[in-house]
Amino acid sequence: MSAGPDAAGGQPGQAPGAPTSPGAPAAPRTPARGLLVAGAAEVATLAGGLRRGAAQADVALAPAGTAVACHDGRIVAVGPEGEAGDALAAALVAAGADPRAFDRLDATGATVTPGLVDPHTHLLFAGSREDEVGARARGATYLEILAAGGGILATVRATRAAPDDVLLAHGRRWLARMLRHGTTTVEAKSGYGLDATTELRLLAVAGRLAAEGPVDVVPTFLGAHAVPAEVRDAHRGDPAAAVEAYVEAVIDEQLPAVAGQGIARSCDVFCESGVFSAGQARRILRAARVLGLDVRLHADELAPSGGAELAAELGALSADHLGAPSPAGIAALAASAAAGRPVVAVLLPTVPWFLGLDAREPARELIAAGVPVALGTDFNPGTSPVASLPLVMAAAVVRLGLDPAEALAATTVNAAAALGLRDRGALEPGLRADLVLWDVPTHAQIPYWAGADLVRSAVIRGRVVAGA
Ligand code: NIG
Ligand code: FE
Repeated sequence: MSAGPDAAGGQPGQAPGAPTSPGAPAAPRTPARGLLVAGAAEVATLAGGLRRGAAQADVALAPAGTAVACHDGRIVAVGPEGEAGDALAAALVAAGADPRAFDRLDATGATVTPGLVDPHTHLLFAGSREDEVGARARGATYLEILAAGGGILATVRATRAAPDDVLLAHGRRWLARMLRHGTTTVEAKSGYGLDATTELRLLAVAGRLAAEGPVDVVPTFLGAHAVPAEVRDAHRGDPAAAVEAYVEAVIDEQLPAVAGQGIARSCDVFCESGVFSAGQARRILRAARVLGLDVRLHADELAPSGGAELAAELGALSADHLGAPSPAGIAALAASAAAGRPVVAVLLPTVPWFLGLDAREPARELIAAGVPVALGTDFNPGTSPVASLPLVMAAAVVRLGLDPAEALAATTVNAAAALGLRDRGALEPGLRADLVLWDVPTHAQIPYWAGADLVRSAVIRGRVVAGA
């Protein structure tokens, strides 16, 4: 990063003339410096809101020479460098700052996009489960491992035993890795506590990570991720009663505590044959909504389970996975979109890949049906120990037939919509100044160099937080 046209000798981040001596009288808050991102080979703005159908492939490319001006955490202008610079100077003056107090971030040769939004992760857990990869290679299935007390339940044991500082350090480490791959907002589910105390603890850790930044963290309550061992044991011989008892605990104990503390934006349920039925998911999500939470669900990840249908019925923000939705489920999502109440289909294509399954999410069918599509990592220790959204984009392009432009819309504007966030996911004046400079000349190469680390710089709220 080079200094602006005239940095006036100030320290980075400090306005010219700001007091420096310890004895100086308290000054008004130091006005934030501006940032002008200029010289890019390509700027994909994704402006214009949620994408679906043919529009899913529209990344709203800006004309050559477009710059992005940022001030006080927001984008103030997207346009020719001279005009964007003038708008930035005006914003600085309006804030009482020197109009030249901005940095120029040189994007020569780079592609500039909005910061990526990962709308589905299980960020917070302890331990790892590489042993299950071998077990699956020897023929065990994911749900068999869970039914035998492994899988999610193995991670629950490790997570309950982990102190907060261990979970915090884990969260920081993986958020930093996600940022290096271009992710600036991360949804983080609880779900490895399965009791009120640990679920609340996980959400509190997510909240602390959000407060720390720079990556924004959006917490989701997923108490209904599996039935914990102690509830199974209490109803030994009657698994159906165990599930019912746990559903009641989620509704009567966990949800009110979570909503009471205001530490989750939305509620999720693992709606899957053999885990929680659509009827049980409906009860939990309705209760969540009454308490003011948005709703989303793990829908038809492994088998058609009525999840897509339920997401449409409830007007959920998103229906996630959709590895095996029924035709009726896809039709229900299409009808919701056509009626102006789109449920975002959040596809997680590294899951069947990592599980060694042939299943492929019906991305083309969903797009043809007018359903908005987003992509996420599903970062978790069981089905997707994958932190890189560009790798997920590659999987979507190679395995699901998405166009690179569709994949970019799926990890920016549509992913933000899946989280109910309208303040990010595109480069438009007024939105958060979260953006990425990629070391490639066009967005079409982001999913092409699969697995490469292409991020030159990442900017969050107008501050360069990765790269230079
Ligand atoms: O999204 N399916 C449920 N939850 C995760 C996996 C969790 C785990 O195996 O630890 C998923 O695939
Ligand atoms: Fe998941």
